[in-house]
Order: sequence, then C-alpha cells, then structure tokens
Amino acid sequence: SRPLQQQWSTRISFILAAAGAAVGLGNIWKFPYVAGENGGGAFVLVYLVCIALLGVPMLMAEVLIGRRGQQNPVNSMARLAEEAGARPVWKNVGRLGVLTGFLLLSFYVVVAGWALAYIPLTASGSFAGVEPARIGQMFDGHLQQPLSLVGWSTLVLIMTLGIVGRGVRKGLEKAANLLMPMLFVFLLILVGYATTTGHFDTALAFMFEPNFDQLTASGVLIALGHAFFTLSIGGGAMMIYGSYLSPGVSIARTSILVAVLDTAAALLAGLAIFPIVFAYGLEPGGGPGLIFVTLPIAFGQMPLGTLFGTLFFIMLSVAALTSAFSLIEPAIAWLIEKRGMSRFKASVLSGSGIWLLSLGTVFSFNIGADWTLAGKTFFESLDYLVSGWMLPLGGLLMALFTAWVMKPDATAQELGGDSAGYRLWRVLIRYLVPTVIMIIFLQAIGIISL
Ligand code: PHE
Ligand code: NA
Repeated sequence: SRPLQQQWSTRISFILAAAGAAVGLGNIWKFPYVAGENGGGAFVLVYLVCIALLGVPMLMAEVLIGRRGQQNPVNSMARLAEEAGARPVWKNVGRLGVLTGFLLLSFYVVVAGWALAYIPLTASGSFAGVEPARIGQMFDGHLQQPLSLVGWSTLVLIMTLGIVGRGVRKGLEKAANLLMPMLFVFLLILVGYATTTGHFDTALAFMFEPNFDQLTASGVLIALGHAFFTLSIGGGAMMIYGSYLSPGVSIARTSILVAVLDTAAALLAGLAIFPIVFAYGLEPGGGPGLIFVTLPIAFGQMPLGTLFGTLFFIMLSVAALTSAFSLIEPAIAWLIEKRGMSRFKASVLSGSGIWLLSLGTVFSFNIGADWTLAGKTFFESLDYLVSGWMLPLGGLLMALFTAWVMKPDATAQELGGDSAGYRLWRVLIRYLVPTVIMIIFLQAIGIISL
C-alpha cells in the first residue's frame, strides 16, 4: 500500500474528506432548485430511494477499486484488470474518470466563483432593502461580466491548488477536518434561522409530502442522475480518495456514512432555503437562480439577513471548495505517479489546464445567447455532457468491472467476507445498477421514451 503520508490518518478523516467531495454545489445549489422544479415531496422520495439502492452500492464499488488499486485511477484500473486476468483496456475507465473531473471542475469553479463573490457582496449589505428586480440585474450585469467571473473563478482555483498542493495529510485531510464540521454547523444554524420565518411547516410539507401527480418520468430520471452526481460517483474522485484508505477500514460502513452525510446536507439545505423562499412569497421552482437571485432577495428583506446571508454564502463556498479538491486530485495523482512529476508541478499544470478550459464557460455567458450548440450554451452543454453522460458511463463501467470482471474473492476480501451485506451488494451491483443506467442511456438517445 501507499506510504503513510499518503494515507488518511484515521477512518474519520476519510469520511470527512469523502463527504467533502460529495457535499457540494449539487447539494446546496442544485438539489433545492431541481426539487423545486419537480414539485417537491415525490421527487425527494425517489431521490432518497435512488441514493439507497443505487448510490450506495456504486459508491462502494468505486471506493473498492481505489482501495485495492492503491494508485491513481488509471494505474488502479490497470492493476486490478491485470489481477483479474482481464484486458488492459479497462484502464481507460481511469482515464475517463480523470478527464471527467477535469471537465467538471472547469465549470464548477465558475459557479463556485459566484458563491465566493456573494460573500463580500452580502456582507457589505449590497442586497439589503434592494428592490427584487435590481438583484436580478446585479447578477446579470455584474457577476456575469468576464473580468469579474475570471477573477472569482481563478481565486477558487488558487485556493483549491493551495490545499491540494500540500498533499493528502497536510492538505486534503487537514482541510476536511476543519471545513466539514464547520459546514454542518453553519447549515444547522441556517435551518434554525429558517424556523423563525413562520413558514417552516410549509417547507416541511413541500419537501416531504409526496404528491405523485407532480412527478413526471423525466423527473424520475433527473432524481436518478442527481443521485449519482451528488455522491460524486463515476468521476474518479471517490476512487482516488479510496486509494488513500488503509486496508481494514470497512468500505460498506464508511460509504453508507458518506451517503448519509451527503443526503443530510441536501435536506438541511432545503430546510434552510425553502422556508425563506415561502416566507417572501417567492418561487421554489425558480431554477438555477434560486440561490443567486431569489435567496438574496429574501436575505435583503429579512431581519439579520446580512449576517445569515453571509453565513449562507460562506457555507456554499466551503461546500464547493471541498468538492473541487476531489475533482482535481485524480489528475494530480496521475501526473505524479505516471509522469513522475512533483506534486507542485502536477498541481500547477493541471490547474492551468482547468483555468484555460474555464474561460470557455466564462465567455459563453457573454459572447451571448448566440453561441449555442443545439440550443444549449457552452456551460449547459458541458454540464449535460458531464452529468448526463460521462458520470453515468464511468459509474456503469465501474459497476460492471467490480461485478463481472473482478474475481468474487477479490471483492469479497475488500468488502469483508461473504456476509449478507456483501451478497446484497453483489446482487445490486450486478443487476440493478447496470440495468437502471442502461435505461437512462436508452432514454437519453431516444430509443425508449418513459
Ligand atoms: N458531488 C459533488 C456535488 O454534489 C459534485 C461532484 C461530482 C464532485 C463528481 C466530484 C465528482 O456538488
Ligand atoms: Na453532493
């Protein structure tokens, strides 16, 4: 296995780092608005079922590959393919993971940059008492400007490299141990604040009373896709974090905990956001602007809105940052282990690549709505390519690999023997997971329509 400085020092550190990877913009920005757009309760229920039945087994499969491979995703896949007597092409799954993280981070830093920009904006009272329409204009006019966007997303990238560049123990682990407890404390404070709006019950009902009339087939597919995205499955993030995990730690128990923390973060975010939205008569289905336009409108009118609004955007930035670490680490580990680079050089090189790519997203907001591909902006196309295709494909291949290519002895050894839990995992990962992902693909290319 890896040298000690390249391993999590405790099981808790792995859980916090992996939860850091999982809890991100997906939980706090995306989950509330897609739940809002898809009618709430029934969508949330389907999402929870997807996490439990598909997400957890897939998370276990990805961590398992990393832990047994003990290297970057490419080398780990190569090593395990060899161990299983399979063809070396399987290492392309590792390459796909590295590439996916790379592409995803290139637009993740842009959204994370908005979050960061909103900290000083909220703290300085820029939203206080401002007319709702003005806030939308502020967002369009100021924060979508190329210079401002480049500045903030570069800052996100520099902060990310500052942590990841220090390595596993001094960088990733230390940051997760500090930031993740802080994130959850902030979330709880914000939920507490939301209970004072007098609309907490409305939010509870909206999120947890399933109204199946509101749920469409496409809503189910969105819930499913989001379950993969939110757990960071299929992109090599969990594989690389798994490779820093020492033998003997239970993959099942830690994966379940990570999934629980991720789900808790999403639900708490909903409970912090929806009461505020309802209290001010705003729309829960406001789309991507829910966090960056709708919420600031409310913060601008609420008592202590400046304080809690600032807290909210600090929390959002922390969530985004800890995910950003996990998106760049596969590429860095690959450059170090495969190309023999120093961690410093590898960080600078991959950071520069992501920075260049992020300019595509930045300028796609400005060159105008004209610069589209099949009606989608560059940003939307990239998001669709990554979240709709690359992550599910990576997840599918990892599931197939652990379920059908690796020897049962090997997976049983990693997952702690031939228990009932192991047999359940094997059934889910062999049959249910691949079937469901195939259905998503067939639907996406229009062969079947649900
Ligand atoms: N899970 C992260 C989120 O919810 C996104 C992510 C996906 C991070 C894949 C790493 C890998 O925001
Ligand atoms: Na998440």
